[in-house]
Amino acid sequence: MPKTDLLDIDKINAQLKTKRIGKKVLVFSSTSSTNDIAAEYARNKDNDGMAIFAEEQTKGRGRAGNKWLTGKADSLICSIVLIGCKLNIELLSLTCAVAVADAIDKIGRHHAKIKWPNDILINGKKIAGILLESKTHKGINACVVGIGINCHQNRDSLPPELQQTATSIDIEGKTASDRISLAKRLLTSLDHWLETAEKDSRKAIDQWSRLSIQLGHRVTAVFNRRKFTGNCIGIDPEKGLILQLDNGAVRMFDAAHTSIAK
Ligand code: BTN
Repeated sequence: MPKTDLLDIDKINAQLKTKRIGKKVLVFSSTSSTNDIAAEYARNKDNDGMAIFAEEQTKGRGRAGNKWLTGKADSLICSIVLIGCKLNIELLSLTCAVAVADAIDKIGRHHAKIKWPNDILINGKKIAGILLESKTHKGINACVVGIGINCHQNRDSLPPELQQTATSIDIEGKTASDRISLAKRLLTSLDHWLETAEKDSRKAIDQWSRLSIQLGHRVTAVFNRRKFTGNCIGIDPEKGLILQLDNGAVRMFDAAHTSIAK
């Protein structure tokens, strides 16, 4: 697979017109987890908007304690530092999903969809995941948005257990993806959608609703090891996914403590 698109700070910065996201960019050849590096930088409020990329992670992590494994230079691996973010965690989570789906769409008209809370799908297969982590340091709330987008994987290079459920931009596209263009799109899209959601959360929620694979469908949420099945009727910007349960009750599920049964 092509590895001619090695991440380069100057190339990512070139003509990047963002107001907040990517004002500082770092690129690591190898690191444990970009979310760990971002958490260190998040101790300084001047680093709001910083983007940290890596070609490889030795301890990449996903949601629910899962590992996030990817070959060197195969994926776009990125973490964003947000300090004093005005969005609460549910709205931030759905807005980041909208932004990542938008960036993937723009790179190749892929029609990316969102599987709440943090999966981005193309043709029903996962292409990207988002891991939000937050910490308070000296009274300042900081969030790290970790994003992994599969780019140069082919069907054989995906782990066997993921070959039916995961995909990559190269698998879905007619031509090989360019991670530098995708990095710029990602920063631009996050910059746009975070600002939009801060000004008018309805716009982010409406876009999430257009891209959701679950809205209007039956969903089984797992919360506190209990399963709750019902029709997904919307998303609440503070409380999470809204289900009308089979017993008639309406209940909301927050992203941090809920997973979706397959
Ligand atoms: C998931 O789908 O479970 C979320 C995956 C998030 C992976 C990204 S890659 C960049 C950042 N660093 C990590 O260790 N994880 C996130």
